[in-house]
Amino acid sequence: MKIKALGVAALILLAACGKHPSPPPSQGVTDAMLQAAPEGEWLSYGRDYNEQRFSPLTQITDKNVTQVGLAWSADLDTARGQEATPLMHDGVLYISTAWSMVKAYDAKTGGLKWAYDPKVPRETLIRACCDAVNRGVALYGDKVYVGTLDGRLVALDQKSGNVVWSKTVVPNQQDYSITGAPRVAKGKVFIGSGGAEYKARGYIAAYDAQSGDELWKFHTVPGNPADGFENSAMEKAAKSWTGDWWKLGGGGTVWDSITYDPATNLVLFGTGNAEPWNPAAAGREGDSLYTSSIVAVDADTGAYAWHFQETPEDRWDFDSAAQITIADLNIGGQQRHVALHAPKNGFFYTLDAKTGAFISAGPFVPQNWAKGIDAKTGRAEINPAARYEKSGAIAPVAPTFFGAHSWQPMSHSPATGLIYIPANIAVFPYLAAKNWKADAIGWQSALDFSVLDKPAMQQAGAAATPAPSGALIAWDPVAQKQVWQVALPAPLNGGTLATAGNLVFQGTTLGDFVAYSADKGAKLWSFPVQSGVGAAPMSYAIDGIQYVAVLTGQGGASQNISRLLVFRLGGTGKLPPPPPMIARVLDPPPYTGTPAQLEHGSELYGRYCFACHGLSAVSQVGNNPDLRHSAALDDAKAFGIVVIDGALKHNGMVSFASALKPEDAEAIRQYVIKRANDDKARGGT
Ligand code: HEC
Repeated sequence: MKIKALGVAALILLAACGKHPSPPPSQGVTDAMLQAAPEGEWLSYGRDYNEQRFSPLTQITDKNVTQVGLAWSADLDTARGQEATPLMHDGVLYISTAWSMVKAYDAKTGGLKWAYDPKVPRETLIRACCDAVNRGVALYGDKVYVGTLDGRLVALDQKSGNVVWSKTVVPNQQDYSITGAPRVAKGKVFIGSGGAEYKARGYIAAYDAQSGDELWKFHTVPGNPADGFENSAMEKAAKSWTGDWWKLGGGGTVWDSITYDPATNLVLFGTGNAEPWNPAAAGREGDSLYTSSIVAVDADTGAYAWHFQETPEDRWDFDSAAQITIADLNIGGQQRHVALHAPKNGFFYTLDAKTGAFISAGPFVPQNWAKGIDAKTGRAEINPAARYEKSGAIAPVAPTFFGAHSWQPMSHSPATGLIYIPANIAVFPYLAAKNWKADAIGWQSALDFSVLDKPAMQQAGAAATPAPSGALIAWDPVAQKQVWQVALPAPLNGGTLATAGNLVFQGTTLGDFVAYSADKGAKLWSFPVQSGVGAAPMSYAIDGIQYVAVLTGQGGASQNISRLLVFRLGGTGKLPPPPPMIARVLDPPPYTGTPAQLEHGSELYGRYCFACHGLSAVSQVGNNPDLRHSAALDDAKAFGIVVIDGALKHNGMVSFASALKPEDAEAIRQYVIKRANDDKARGGT
């Protein structure tokens, strides 16, 4: 008996030892450097642990920025969306690109030092909500860490780019993907996943930086109560759910923001939307904790510390996943250590970083989903009219599922005290899908994305769907009010960089890289970059010269030309002339469908195709073909070979045979032909 008991104790001890984390690195990029990055370096996604994206460099200023020019540029080998912020350490610039590839350049000359390709299968595209993007790498010790779209966490050698270890870390590759930048501290690598449009159960986990072994994992939503709860935080959260939520995962994925705060030893992260979006589809009532929240856990153990839910009862895809910035601000005469956040729901939040206590909030764009925010608790009072699934009618809600502000990083200047938010201004007509059933392929949101084709929307015309726009907003996080704003004609403009030279840099959807004065928002300089920009710029210095770097490559109104651009004072570099814009002329075959086919095709398109090919068959994303222009429309057989047989699966267009029959594909073809003819008749392109 005794021996046996000892054996068990030894096993438990061994298991505990196995979980003992490696010590943090003492060479290369260390915790101390990440806490206070050397002036000329940019060591993690948000520059250092504070995630302020503020460069203390002062060579480029509001006085001389007009003399900034291109120092060097590098063409990237994929023309999908680029979302990464470059990192710079010890004279080397590290980036990740679409399909989770990593490249290292000489930061002064632009010479390529090495490139790593994890060879993500292109079919993975169907499991990623929003393109094959990657937001960046982490540097730690002598390694580079990257998460891959198909759910691997990979450690590379900083010098050679060789793989040190690689582990599949997601629970399954059907519902989970990784696009976020890992963060590092205390010998650990922190990463979560995407997947809340599929059947993912959100989590964040810590992995040993040396071995890749999992050290702890914190789920953001409860699992099936019948299986027991992992911890008391899950048990508590389960009380805020009804129905069979776990069958569809529940969502709440940690797909972007992770902030390690050394002052509190907490890891703060933002959670994504509840899944499915439409709560009625899973019999869901209540707050659905901890979705659309900021959550804090102990960095050593992953134990729950606090949470603050920004969007209760999320049904609009109001992720709270956007970057969380830590700052010390004077509020009411007191120094407060705060967490600053501008989530998709359109309110800016200032919270106590140690306790999560609500300090203040204010709307930074027009919104109508909340009637207001409780001044004491910070809880939003939901506008009943925004609960679209209750009425079953179309509910125009602002902001929308692409967010008042999403992953495009904001920045904070301690010099001005302001936050620079790349914001979106938009309304979307939410409509619950009727007779919805879960499926194995595509988004499982249970919304009707054929909503724009509905007779009510068609009759209401353009007024019902005003074109979305953007704004660069300078926000005071203490007074909770806007200080200045630059209106931008298109939404989804790039992230921002604030510098000690009284500057804010931002790339735009329409293809300019712009510098504004940080205090007043005066436009001081711009450079045509030939491509939409979504990613955020960063700044570094080598041999006394300050550089500003940014990745270009986004759909949008201009073409996607994916590049790494690096600027400096007196730079004389030139971009090659842009390829000629191909004039888009709609030339569809005649429409021969029936009304029944048209309605069926519209609904199927909204369910299975819109996420990549755009609402109502207009490709806004730009990275995937606009089907109204496709030659495959001419021939039912050709269309079927692509859609049912998966002829283009190696380029990311998988087979939909599991969901669609040939007559369904034909209905979709007829629908797209009708859309193309209607747009042509209106003089559209
Ligand atoms: C996960 C993203 C994704 C989804 C969802 C998707 N597609 Fe595609 N589709 C693509 C990509 C990427 C391509 C381009 C493939 C290539 O370059 O060869 C493409 C190409 C096509 C083409 C060929 C266009 C041309 O002329 O080159 C057709 C037709 C098409 N898709 C139809 C559909 C239909 C119909 C649906 C819904 C049932 C759908 N797609 C859903 C990503 C997607």
